[in-house]
Amino acid sequence: MKPTVKFDIICVMGIRILGTGGYLPPKVVTNNDIAAALDTSDEWIYSHTGIHARHVAEDGETTSTMAAKAAKAALEMAGVAPEDVGLIVLATSSPDYGTFPSTACVVQDLLGCVNAGAYDLQAACAGFIYALEQARGFVNFYPEKKALVIGAECLSRILDWTDRSSCILFGDGAGAVVIGNDEEPGVSSTKTTAHTILGADGKGQAFIMRTGGTREALPLDPLTGIPLKPEPSIAKLTLQGHDVFAFAVRKLSKVVGDLCEKLCTTPSELDRVFAHQANGRIIEATARRMKLPIEKFWLNLETTANTSAASVPISLDQAVRSGELKDGMKIVLVGFGAGLTYGGTYMTWPNL
Ligand code: UT7
Repeated sequence: MKPTVKFDIICVMGIRILGTGGYLPPKVVTNNDIAAALDTSDEWIYSHTGIHARHVAEDGETTSTMAAKAAKAALEMAGVAPEDVGLIVLATSSPDYGTFPSTACVVQDLLGCVNAGAYDLQAACAGFIYALEQARGFVNFYPEKKALVIGAECLSRILDWTDRSSCILFGDGAGAVVIGNDEEPGVSSTKTTAHTILGADGKGQAFIMRTGGTREALPLDPLTGIPLKPEPSIAKLTLQGHDVFAFAVRKLSKVVGDLCEKLCTTPSELDRVFAHQANGRIIEATARRMKLPIEKFWLNLETTANTSAASVPISLDQAVRSGELKDGMKIVLVGFGAGLTYGGTYMTWPNL
């Protein structure tokens, strides 16, 4: 089978997910905790989102510390030593630092992955799907190397906690997978089944936005025309919930349908769908649109809320460790997020 170019890749190697890991900080903030400070209620939040509580990083915890814990668990499950990792791709919208150094580099140091290249990837809540596909390409080119793919978020530190329409939605956490090629060199795999679709629609850039970047021009001194010293800008997360909701339902069902069609199967043959955990009503509407029983969709957002790039790998790790995800199951990982971005991967677990 001939591999095609980016965004639509069928891989011909024996690449597998070798291990998974997840981390949720111990501190829990319930809807009632939020309702004590804002004009909202557990009833409103749960009925509109399916969320009862979320994990929130404590003092001393950051995106990198949570990512390192999830990654360490994934490496242990995979039986891969830190020095055998050739690449770390870390998807996040809440990096340790504003721009650089990357959180992936901090994690590389924390884990002792001394032989790994490391970088962050920003595709919001679809970030893990993008990162997995990049790492798959890397292992495809360097079959002897292992890659660590991480989704990690400390969103509680970038939320506007006075905005009841957005702060109720999110939580902190991290998930990770280790991928590698377990085929003998030169042997072509017959196990590979994976297919990925990645996409974006920048026309929806205003639907979910965090202000405070270089786009905000410096004011000029009216007399000299020299830029004034910048005021520290207060970054704010803004959300047009209805627009994102409609986009999400449309894209989730389209991506899952298109993936199945590419692989000459139907959604009803899927064993499980690991969809980004943004809102239970989005997942229910997707299931209805696809005429799939809701039981096929992994659901954990009642206690995790939306952990953005971390949500899909946290779900995967829970499914693996609970024994619910078994070898040979046909699954789809699918997500969407700010950008707007979207993407999905069809795989026969654990083959990529
Ligand atoms: O992963 C990507 C990011 N995720 C998303 O963007 C999520 C997608 N969107 C959603 O999940 C939903 O649109 C929300 C949960 C954000 C909002 O639900 P909704 O059913 O679309 O509510 P709404 O925005 O239409 O608001 C309805 C009413 C408004 O009051 P008025 O104007 O009708 O008087 C809001 O002010 O509900 C009010 N409201 C709240 N009331 C109590 C909004 N947030 C709250 C709240 N508690 N937390």
